[in-house]
Amino acid sequence: MSHTESFKIKGLGGKRTLEGTISVNGAKNAVLQAFAFPFLFKSGVTLENVPHIEDTDRMTEILEGMGMGVQKTSAKSFEFKAKGTLSPELPYELARRLRASIVLIGPVLSRLHEVRFPHPGGCVIGNRPIDIFLDAFAKLGATLSEEGDYYVLRAPQGLIGAPVYLRVPSVTATQTLMMGAVLAKGTTTIKNAALEPETIALADFLNSCGAKIKGAGTPTITIEGGDLLDSGGKAFNVPPDRLEAGSFLILGALAAKDLTITGCIPEHIDPVIEALRSAGVPLEVGDSWVRVKSPAEGTLYRGVEIKTHEYPGFPTDLQAPMVVFLTQTEGESLVFETIFEGRLGYTEGLNKMGASIKMWDSHRATVHGPTPLKGKELEGPDIRAGLAYVIAGIIATGESTIRNAYYVDRGYEDIEGRLGKLGVSIERVTE
Ligand code: EPZ
Repeated sequence: MSHTESFKIKGLGGKRTLEGTISVNGAKNAVLQAFAFPFLFKSGVTLENVPHIEDTDRMTEILEGMGMGVQKTSAKSFEFKAKGTLSPELPYELARRLRASIVLIGPVLSRLHEVRFPHPGGCVIGNRPIDIFLDAFAKLGATLSEEGDYYVLRAPQGLIGAPVYLRVPSVTATQTLMMGAVLAKGTTTIKNAALEPETIALADFLNSCGAKIKGAGTPTITIEGGDLLDSGGKAFNVPPDRLEAGSFLILGALAAKDLTITGCIPEHIDPVIEALRSAGVPLEVGDSWVRVKSPAEGTLYRGVEIKTHEYPGFPTDLQAPMVVFLTQTEGESLVFETIFEGRLGYTEGLNKMGASIKMWDSHRATVHGPTPLKGKELEGPDIRAGLAYVIAGIIATGESTIRNAYYVDRGYEDIEGRLGKLGVSIERVTE
């Protein structure tokens, strides 16, 4: 990992010249959850279509630190197999570097009857408490103690299924609870569950290996606990990353002559497609692709109101890239970030480039457009705002340096190689 790497970008100055196709990789927010699978299986499990991003490297290191063997059997497939006795402790320094490490706690606790973990880190987009997780596992019979810098959950007799209502439809709380309940005794019901499509993909695969999960993707998920699962040689094929698809579509709406995003599931990015269409962007939508071309000369897109919401609403992870789009649309657009209280700070960097974004409070901002952007040196603050800065650098006039390439690499594989193929002038530099 090196925070000293940056992306150097030569902006297009508003010209729409990008062309070609870009295929979408396996979803970060499905594959990281699937790294918890091996604890639920008798003898290992395989993942396919794994993106090579920093977070999959970190999760690999965490699992290896717990005694779970991880083998890359090809560029995009991983095989997991316990190397001996498994440890219930998530390695402190590693687990603190990504929020996703918390998805391990359910499966580890239900398999080993104990799990020791630090407060998870990851993107600084709010204080990101874990009360919902601790409360849920207490309902399933676990006791909590804090030992040094570790939270320790113990369930000596294993987890006992129970009804759990989630105060907030937390994505990773839903997922780790659903997966942990697979080995609990009896029935667990998760009420007010998150509805993300990745949760459905996880449940479908686990069910194909012997789990009994009903209602994934609906507000109520019911899990009949049972024995360790057996993959029978089947592999989990990581579904396409709707956040990559949405990010590239927004880039296309801003700077494409003719760009097609392939290997995606368009309905998973309906909110972005609808928002861009209501701004006047002409899009062609196929069964596994979306195509965007430049509009007639002189066309000015209309501003649209963006309110982030749990799935299937507008994804909070596409709020920052969408705000870059809004800086190039006409009029005042309200942006209401309802999920996280610290996810609008990056707008300051866009204002440095020439945008006109006013923050009213930690959840609300208005974007006044269109404003031409000038290339600047910016610090990427997290994965999605880092990608938003890359997009801003691409449409700006002049050169930009976007620091903390590591953050973008956490969510997007080989971003400079893939965007370079479309005609973006972007290179990775070590400072
Ligand atoms: C997942 O994070 C994603 N990460 C995030 O993507 C995404 O932004 C988020 O879901 C919302 O869609 C992964 O899947 C690895 P939450 P998660 O728990 O599960 C509050 C990216 O860029 N909350 O659904 O951590 C929380 O503070 C990342 O890929 C509690 O109050 O999000 C937030 O306000 C960024 N207590 C709200 O719930 C808890 O115990 C939603 O958070 C848990 C959450």
